[in-house]
Amino acid sequence: MRSGTGRVGVLLVGLMAVTACAPAGPPSPDATPRAQPRPLPDPMPTEPGSLEEAIAERRSVRDLIDRPLSDAQIGQLLWSAQGITGSRGRRAAPSAGATYPLEVYVATTDRVAKYEIDDHALSDHLDVDRRSALAAAAFGQEWIADAGAVIVLTGVIERTADRYGDRAERFVLLEAGHAAQNVLLQATALDLVGVPVGAFDDAEVRELLELPTDHEPLYLLPIGFPAD
Ligand SMILES: Cc1cc2nc3c(=O)[nH]c(=O)nc-3n(C[C@H](O)[C@H](O)[C@H](O)COP(=O)(O)O)c2cc1C
Repeated sequence: MRSGTGRVGVLLVGLMAVTACAPAGPPSPDATPRAQPRPLPDPMPTEPGSLEEAIAERRSVRDLIDRPLSDAQIGQLLWSAQGITGSRGRRAAPSAGATYPLEVYVATTDRVAKYEIDDHALSDHLDVDRRSALAAAAFGQEWIADAGAVIVLTGVIERTADRYGDRAERFVLLEAGHAAQNVLLQATALDLVGVPVGAFDDAEVRELLELPTDHEPLYLLPIGFPAD
């Protein structure tokens, strides 16, 4: 056990270190003025089909027509969220420590399915259209009901917590953001539109999608055809 004197020593050393790192006070009147911002080269041109075009074109669009997406469109969107893209199960979006906490569902015009990541396949989850119920759970955001596909990102926090403890919740949310942006850019590249939805009642979404208790709903991504 450390002695009382030893503890005081540690405290003093700590205090000195903190003082040494403390920010200086307000700048003295003769401090060097801040340099003018230096212009950067223009962003790369948004060539048709380029990543730059998708980034520039992506907008949150809430005016959709209620039309089903094709299996190819749904598959492409799901692949961009979590598809396998590399050896040892590496995926389309980065993952803290490759712990892969995300599970992805998709609510379409006639069912809810789970994305089977390793097989790039859908397994039936619910045999019913849950899009209107999701819109209600999102406090009446009706565009969710009109989306040909509502991609639901869920997270199993424990998978990441096993390695990162208290930091896991932050990591899983960040990871959902990575996956969501992939989906939104992919949708843009497919001439589809959508909007990320974070405002919803967690318990209601969990219940109406009959999610396993450890699948935390994180983000809804209604994707579809633009109304105009
Ligand atoms: C974490 C997060 C949550 C959001 N939640 C909602 C939402 O519940 N409903 C909605 O219509 N838009 C939502 N948005 C979309 C923003 O309103 C939108 O990104 C913002 O207005 C900027 O417009 P832009 O996406 O067209 O660039 C959300 C965006 C983020 C990043």
